[in-house]
Amino acid sequence: MPAVVVVGAQWGDEGKGKVTDYLAAQADYVVRYQGGSNAGHTVVADGHTFRLHLLPAGIVHPGTQCVIGNGVVVDPLMLCRELAEVQSHGLSPRLWISDRAHVVMPYHRVLDRLEEEQRGDGRIGTTGLGIGPTYVDKVGRSGIRMAEFVDPDLFRQRLQAVLPLKNRLLQGVYGHPGFTVEAIVDELAEAARTLKPYVTDTSLLLNEALAAGQKVLLEGANGTLLDIDHGTYPFVTSSNASAGGAAAGAGIGPTRISRVIGVVKAYTTRVGAGPFPTELDNEVGAWIRERGREYGTTTGRPRRCGWFDAVLVRHAVRVSGIDLLAVTLLDVLSGLPKIPVCVGYRYRGQEVSGFPATLEALQGCEPVFEELPGWEEDLGSVRSWEQMPVNARHYVERLAELVGVPLGLVSVGPAREQTILCQELF
Ligand code: IMP
Repeated sequence: MPAVVVVGAQWGDEGKGKVTDYLAAQADYVVRYQGGSNAGHTVVADGHTFRLHLLPAGIVHPGTQCVIGNGVVVDPLMLCRELAEVQSHGLSPRLWISDRAHVVMPYHRVLDRLEEEQRGDGRIGTTGLGIGPTYVDKVGRSGIRMAEFVDPDLFRQRLQAVLPLKNRLLQGVYGHPGFTVEAIVDELAEAARTLKPYVTDTSLLLNEALAAGQKVLLEGANGTLLDIDHGTYPFVTSSNASAGGAAAGAGIGPTRISRVIGVVKAYTTRVGAGPFPTELDNEVGAWIRERGREYGTTTGRPRRCGWFDAVLVRHAVRVSGIDLLAVTLLDVLSGLPKIPVCVGYRYRGQEVSGFPATLEALQGCEPVFEELPGWEEDLGSVRSWEQMPVNARHYVERLAELVGVPLGLVSVGPAREQTILCQELF
C-alpha cells in the first residue's frame, strides 16, 4: 500500500492535525517529514486536548507507529516534554526518530531571536524556536544530527568543531556571550539519554513497512504557502512544507506516494508578517478570529483572518499536486448573510495568471471577489452531507470547483465525530 500525504494548502494552521488524526486511526505509520516545534497540532482524544508540536498526530492512537523523519528539526527538550505529557495520559509512545534528523541547539534559538531583532521592520515574525538557524546549519553542513546527538562522545566532538564559529558570530556580530561545550552538554545530556532508544534509520523502517503493504500517512507541517521555495518568500519557514518535501523528508521515493490530501480552512488565516491579499483588518476579521479561536497553538499570537483565496489555494494545488480537498472550520462562518470568496487577482488592471513571485507584485494585486449566500444554522451537529444546510453545501462545493479538486472531507468542529466524509481518503 503506497503512502498518503496530508498537506496544508494555505499559510499553516489549516486543521491538518485533526485530519491526520482522523486518518491515523487507519494508518500503520504516521510520519512528520519537515518543520519542527514551530508546528502546532491540536488533537482532541478521549476528552483531552493535546497540543502537539513535534510528535506526529498519530501518537494518540494505540495501534499507530509514529515517525519523526530526517527532514524534521528536533528540539530535544521540547520533544521530551511532549513525550512526558502523552505518557502522563497513559499513552505509551510507539515513536521512531530518524538518526539523520537535525537537532535544534540552544544557540539556534538565540540566533533566531537575534536575527529577528536585527531585521527590524522587515522581521518575519518567526516562532523564535530556532527553526531557521537549524536549517541554515543543515544546508551549511555544520549541523548536528540525532545519531551524533545521542552518542556522548560524538556529540562533544561535533560541538567542539562547530561551536567556535557560532561563538564568533554571536559575540562579534550580536554581542552575545556565546556558549561553552560543557554548558550545552549539561543542558541536553538527559534529553539525549531519554531520546536514544527511539533513534533509528526511519527510512529503512518506512520502506520495509511499505514493502509489507502497510499504510503510511505523511503529515505535513506549517503549510504550502510557507514553503521555502513556493511560499511568499521571504515570509516563509525554512523547509519544504509542500508535499514535495514528503519524499525527501521521510526517506521514501516519490513513486511511493499515491495521494496528496490538501487541507484548507473555509476562510484564510496567517500568523506573522507577510502579504495577505484577502485579509480582513476590520471587525469581520475579528469576528472570525473569535469564532474560530484563531490564536497560535505554538505562540498564542492572534492570527490574521481573511476570506478564502482560491488563487492562493490553486497555487498550492499545483505545487503540492493535491488531488483531494479537506475543508475545515466551515462551522465558523455560520451567521454571515453573504460570504465573499476571492476568485482571481488583478495587477495593474490585468488579470493575473499563476501566483506572483515577488512581494511587490503580490502586494499590488487586487482580489476579485464572488459573493456566495451564507447560512444561519449552527453546523456543529451536522454529521452527513444530507444534513448540511444547502447554502453551506453550495459554499464548499464552490470552493472545490474553484480550486479544481474534488472534496474528500468537510470538518464542522474540533471533535473527531464532527467530520463529514465525502469519499474514502485512505
Ligand atoms: P519559523 O518557522 O519559526 O521560522 O517562522 C517563519 C514564519 O512561518 C512565521 O511567519 C511563522 O509565524 C510561520 N509559521 C511557522 N510555522 C507555522 C505553523 O505551523 N502555522 C502557521 N504559521 C507558521
